Amino acid sequence: MTIQENVSLKTLNTFGVSAKARLFIDINTEEDLKDLFADEQLKNLPHLVLGGGSNMLFTKDFDGLVIHMNIHGVSNRTEGDDVYVTAGGGEVWNDLVNYTIDNEFAGTENLSLIPGSVGASPVQNIGAYGVELMDIFHSCRAFEISSGNMRVFTKEECNFSYRDSVFKSAYKGHYIITEVTFKLSKAFSPNVTYGAIQHELDNRKISSPTINDISSVVSFIRVSKLPDPKTIGNAGSFFKNPIIPVGKFIQLQSNFPDIVHYPSTAGFIKLAAGWMIEQCGWKGKVSGNTGTWKNQALVLVNHGKATGNEIFNFSGEIIKSVESRFDITLEREVNII
Ligand code: EPU
Repeated sequence: MTIQENVSLKTLNTFGVSAKARLFIDINTEEDLKDLFADEQLKNLPHLVLGGGSNMLFTKDFDGLVIHMNIHGVSNRTEGDDVYVTAGGGEVWNDLVNYTIDNEFAGTENLSLIPGSVGASPVQNIGAYGVELMDIFHSCRAFEISSGNMRVFTKEECNFSYRDSVFKSAYKGHYIITEVTFKLSKAFSPNVTYGAIQHELDNRKISSPTINDISSVVSFIRVSKLPDPKTIGNAGSFFKNPIIPVGKFIQLQSNFPDIVHYPSTAGFIKLAAGWMIEQCGWKGKVSGNTGTWKNQALVLVNHGKATGNEIFNFSGEIIKSVESRFDITLEREVNII
């Protein structure tokens, strides 16, 4: 077990902001986790589990132990048309997507190019272009911090909903996901519910898309809207799309007839936060070293030298502005440290 001190986290968060971990450990196996939490001193330190760092904003140094998940390995098992793919939590999400596409296992293609790690993917039920992780999730293995035991969570036990799971609510901070199993399929039927996918397939004159076609179109749409964290620091959507009761929505719509919205669970409507932020005049705005992305107002960016606090304060201005115009309080999707 090698514990490092004063480790820079700048390259370990996709916002690319400077922050340090007082202590830092790489976890390569489940045994490493068991050893770590068997140590009385280390066990009682404040800790932070870090995957790809793609959904985090560091506003200060972390005065505790950063646990960097590095468990690798991918395998698959076939049952008829079903394929169960199991991946270590430290695998890069998009590497897993590419592995499944190369093998023609259908299910992950709409989730192409999402930054982050496999282990983090169930925590916030990642989603894009008509698909959510819960649609392909089978189960995961997780380390229970209090007991030091491993536990398997079924899909039902994860209690998934929009950008949410049991790991963000009832069991927040209780478990560390080490491995995820996905239920994919050898029988492919394309999901083109997100309008721009069909539009781009038509542009390319593709009438019977393959898994690879869908992945390529999704990647194209994603790149056209979202900044690449390798060149411009960001954490994808900074806020969640608000879900509000239908009654409140009807009132809002009478004042803002063009308000962009989607169906949600019964009695609720989901609003497009990006639309509201744009309506408030923030799209493409540069404020010091931070701002919103020119093609997607829901994405906050680091223009190079932003501090976490600068980005956080800027997000606060957006929240105030949307609140005063629409009477809707945006919630940050990104974890603030
Ligand atoms: N919109 C605007 N202005 C903007 C941005 C969006 O008017 O600056 C409008 C668009 O015109 C569109 C609607 O808002 O009508 C929705 O925009 P978009 O399809 O780009 O998706 P989103 O709701 O802003 C969500 C996810 C993204 C995911 C896309 C595509 C959340 C918080 N974000 O964004 O996920 O890629 O849908 O499925 O749910 C992420 O979570 O980090 C992320 C990037």
